[in-house]
Amino acid sequence: MRIEVRRGRIEQASDEAIVVNAFEGVTRPGGATGAVDAAAGGVIGKHLRMGDFKARRGEIYLIYPEGMRTKRILLVGLGKKEKFDEDAARQVSAAVAKRAVSLKIRSYASIVHGAGGGEAGDGAGERRRRSTSAGIGGLRPERAAQAFAEGAILATYKFEKYKSAPEKPEDRPVELARITVLAPEAREVSRLARGVEAGVAIAESVNFTRDVANESGRDGRPEVIARRVQEMARKVGLKCTVYDRRWLERKGMNAILAVNSGSANEPRLVVLEHNPRAKRTVAVVGKGITFDSGGISIKPGEAMDKMKHDKSGAAAVFGALRAAALLDLPVHVVGVAPLTDNLPSGSAYKPGDIVRAYNGKTIEVLNTDAEGRVLLSDALAWTEETFAPDAIVDLATLTGACSVALGSLAIAGMGTDEKLLSRVREAGEACHERVWPLPFWDEYDEQIKTPVADVKNLGGRGAGTITGGRFLRKFVKDTPWVHLDIASTAWDEGSAAKFNPEYSPSPHATGVGVRLMVEMLRDW
Ligand code: BES
Ligand code: MN
Ligand code: ZN
Repeated sequence: MRIEVRRGRIEQASDEAIVVNAFEGVTRPGGATGAVDAAAGGVIGKHLRMGDFKARRGEIYLIYPEGMRTKRILLVGLGKKEKFDEDAARQVSAAVAKRAVSLKIRSYASIVHGAGGGEAGDGAGERRRRSTSAGIGGLRPERAAQAFAEGAILATYKFEKYKSAPEKPEDRPVELARITVLAPEAREVSRLARGVEAGVAIAESVNFTRDVANESGRDGRPEVIARRVQEMARKVGLKCTVYDRRWLERKGMNAILAVNSGSANEPRLVVLEHNPRAKRTVAVVGKGITFDSGGISIKPGEAMDKMKHDKSGAAAVFGALRAAALLDLPVHVVGVAPLTDNLPSGSAYKPGDIVRAYNGKTIEVLNTDAEGRVLLSDALAWTEETFAPDAIVDLATLTGACSVALGSLAIAGMGTDEKLLSRVREAGEACHERVWPLPFWDEYDEQIKTPVADVKNLGGRGAGTITGGRFLRKFVKDTPWVHLDIASTAWDEGSAAKFNPEYSPSPHATGVGVRLMVEMLRDW
């Protein structure tokens, strides 16, 4: 899909459909919607006044106008004006793109939702506000355009590499190939184009992350994923280094090797770097379990298949670095992702094993299914030592307990630095990948003490997400660090309240973490 920004009047567009919008309660269309209304002989105003179309957020009415160059008008609701924000704009754009796909429309022209010169308001108020930069929706044009692009690209994502094409031609999907964003005034074009360009880069990076996370354990072995990332890095200009088992052995990364020891597939440690010469360095570390069977502490069969997405943290790191490169962010970003599956076999690590991690600390393994923290211990310690970053953020599908605590609406956040955590949380509010803090008191360490080693990988029944985080803390010295548990937000299926459902196709990997990290890094 291409998204183009041009100067032009929406009512004159000849695309297969044109898209205009309206807030709830509006009966007299203004702005671009008003212009389309006039060109179509008042049909939009009539729809609004009839009241069948409520203009709820994402509600769409399909109108076949007379006397226009386009065949269809998609009138989309923006919902309540006081509830309208960037995520609403993203959702509205997503709803339209999905409808266009189901209508087999190849191209449509649209205004940017919430970015000014657009929505149906009352005519007079619209004119008064026209000269200001924010539109009726009150969004900054660049941000509204970014949200527009993200919504359309994220919502139309599909993971179909393993599906054969339908036999009957009429069953085959038609590609939504082009969206044209029209701006009535020339000076708006460059601002909107900048926003669209950023949105495209970010959303396509989220989709890269989704592709990696959705990949099966069979095909998505560490070496395969690492190669795919290397290829991506070459294309976008990231530095990429892939370390193999022998390197991990030489370095003494026994924790990563312990998790890998039951598998016939070799582990990898993937390191990506963007802009190494910048003054500030931020490291993003991701859990990359390419399949989590639980190991010797094997999981029950039900839903074990979903554990192919246990590499979602690593996948988010790859997507975030991709976007950082495309946006050319002015900060040195390091991405680190250890990759291995967690399988039982005669050589597998076992409950009772004691492992000496890269930083010299010993770990008593009491449950081989708590492998994420074991894997990350080496990655975190090595990252801190090697890059001396100003901050470390890790992303991990670490604990099932995360969904007990927060459900699918929030990422669990915790760490050693309030400022960094606030930063992450603010980024989460801004991009609607919301982070909620859990208590992180020292007393929780009681739960991971053991008489035979420095720490154990099991914290008992209570506070599972927190004790997972407390474990990781032992492997970061004094760098400001935040741990994000994405176990309940990385895969969308089943739960009633879903993570960004309008533009996260279900049942699939959501690609959570990419937009969050980019939002945080953009104004580092
Ligand atoms: N990858 C899982 C956590 C998970 C569960 C992620 C469901 C996404 C959805 C992790 O490795 C795991 O197995 N955690 C255990 C930890 C326990 C043994 C302390 C869990 O949550 O049960
Ligand atoms: Mn596990
Ligand atoms: Zn796991």
